[in-house]
Amino acid sequence: MRLSLAAPVTAAGVLALLPLDALAHLRPRSCDGHELLIPRQTDSLDPTAQCQYYNYQPVQDIKAKYPTIWTTATIQGSDTEAQTLFSQINATIQQKAGSVVIKPASTAGYSYDRSDPDCWWTWQGCTKPADSIGVAADLIDVPEPHTLGLTIDDGPNCSQNALYEYLREQKQRATMFFIGSNIFGWPVQAIQAHKDGHEICVHTWSHQPMTTLTNEQAFAELYYTRKAIKDIIGVTPKCWRPPQGDVDNRIRLIAAGLNLTTIIWNLETDDWRAQAVNSTVSEADVDNNYQKIVDQGKNNFTTHGGVVLTHQSTNYTMSTLLKWLPQLKSAWTHVVPLASAYNWTQPYVETDVTYPDFNAYISGSTSSSSSSSSSSTAPSSSTTGSGAGANAVSASGSGSATGTASAAASTTSRSAALRTPDLDLRHIAPASLLLGIMYALL
Ligand SMILES: *[C@@H]1O[C@H](CO)[C@@H](O)[C@H](O)[C@H]1NC(C)=O
Ligand SMILES: *[C@@H]1O[C@H](CO)[C@@H](O)[C@H](O)[C@H]1NC(C)=O
Ligand SMILES: *[C@@H]1O[C@H](CO)[C@@H](O)[C@H](O)[C@H]1NC(C)=O
Ligand SMILES: *[C@@H]1O[C@H](CO)[C@@H](O)[C@H](O)[C@H]1NC(C)=O
Ligand SMILES: *[C@@H]1O[C@H](CO)[C@@H](O)[C@H](O)[C@H]1NC(C)=O
Ligand SMILES: *[C@@H]1O[C@H](CO)[C@@H](O)[C@H](O)[C@H]1NC(C)=O
Ligand SMILES: *[C@@H]1O[C@H](CO)[C@@H](O)[C@H](O)[C@H]1NC(C)=O
Repeated sequence: MRLSLAAPVTAAGVLALLPLDALAHLRPRSCDGHELLIPRQTDSLDPTAQCQYYNYQPVQDIKAKYPTIWTTATIQGSDTEAQTLFSQINATIQQKAGSVVIKPASTAGYSYDRSDPDCWWTWQGCTKPADSIGVAADLIDVPEPHTLGLTIDDGPNCSQNALYEYLREQKQRATMFFIGSNIFGWPVQAIQAHKDGHEICVHTWSHQPMTTLTNEQAFAELYYTRKAIKDIIGVTPKCWRPPQGDVDNRIRLIAAGLNLTTIIWNLETDDWRAQAVNSTVSEADVDNNYQKIVDQGKNNFTTHGGVVLTHQSTNYTMSTLLKWLPQLKSAWTHVVPLASAYNWTQPYVETDVTYPDFNAYISGSTSSSSSSSSSSTAPSSSTTGSGAGANAVSASGSGSATGTASAAASTTSRSAALRTPDLDLRHIAPASLLLGIMYALL
């Protein structure tokens, strides 16, 4: 089964079949000399081939209304809708969490109240805000026993084909937390994820620790990513995950103001750390983490299930997930996307986009129409809806070769690596992870 996202049978579709070096010479140009749009999703499994930059006119058309990719988001000058919404949310924060301070970028020497009044996850893994805050607890597990919620962060990725193809073949869906800047970098790949039936959630605009940002920045990081998912994929998510789990009551209130459920995890592979700069986590450690998750699927989680955190940020993280997925699927009774785990049959604001509930997902009834076409494979049939995504895929036109994607290639482990090494508090994370796991086993 092959990808063929360059769905409309056009010159672009034909070009997608050519070897890349040939393609580089043959890229068509419009009459004003600009490179023509090629919404090209090669079916190559070679990362270099997949990561050739392309222009995608729908992104060119809207990007002036968005923050610059990989910069901290702020509300764009003329965006009155965002301004109005933000001032409402800002007032709520002032009222309910006015005492929560912005955390410093480096916590070296920073003294924080041990009682953790802000329910700061990064401090001791707090996921249940006080009732007075008025927001739901973070979601960290799934209700069904021996069930694993599969989550994949940091996409879309230019070189995701091998992973996505495997997931399609296995009729396996995941919950994917997308970075706004990556959606602008690799929009066709973002659309593919939705077409394949994966559940799409927000993972911020520029992947920074959210508790270090101002109210406005944190709002804009969520607001513009949610909007980008709507503009490019055609759906409006109702879920988000904070980069590195970094969330406190102030940030939770901002997310709640955008109707975004905060999702953490309780099973950690640490895959992104293995190749991070100065990392103390080895690839053997990551394999060991996966092995533990396999073992726990067999022996533990008898009252409810787990949520595993993995990444599609590098070839290593994707390869490692691919390597372990068969064992995860045999050790856990069910491996499911979170929407199915929670029976969120309308996971997006758009109510015409539906999702299989838990029983439908595990009975495989969602894949009944999978055989008909190669481009819209297995589980996608029930998520077609009428969103702009379908239009976006077939949209065409011309655009200048500005290479929006190039900055995206610097990817996200960058910001993760920036913050982690100098953070005393972060060293507590493994302990909080352990707490999370123990909690999960209760
Ligand atoms: C948001 O609230 C802070 C105080 O919490 C205030 O300083 C700031 O001016 C407010 N911004 C807007 C746009 O209302
Ligand atoms: C995707 O994966 C490749 C490795 O295949 C990596 O080099 C790249 O930085 C990743 N990130 C993005 C945003 O494509
Ligand atoms: C959140 O959901 C409520 C209830 O459906 C709706 O009235 C409100 O407009 C939504 N807010 C945002 C920012 O989408
Ligand atoms: C990695 O470690 C070296 C040597 O201690 C140090 O100079 C460098 O700044 C570190 N890099 C990062 C990103 O922490
Ligand atoms: C998981 O279950 C096994 C077998 O019952 C038990 O020995 C082990 O301690 C449990 N693991 C955790 C982390 O509780
Ligand atoms: C990783 O890269 C190799 C080639 O460098 C490629 O063959 C393989 O398919 C990639 N793996 C994934 C999961 O993308
Ligand atoms: C999902 O729906 C099934 C079937 O109705 C039910 O048994 C299960 O408890 C539901 N799960 C949740 C989390 O609501």
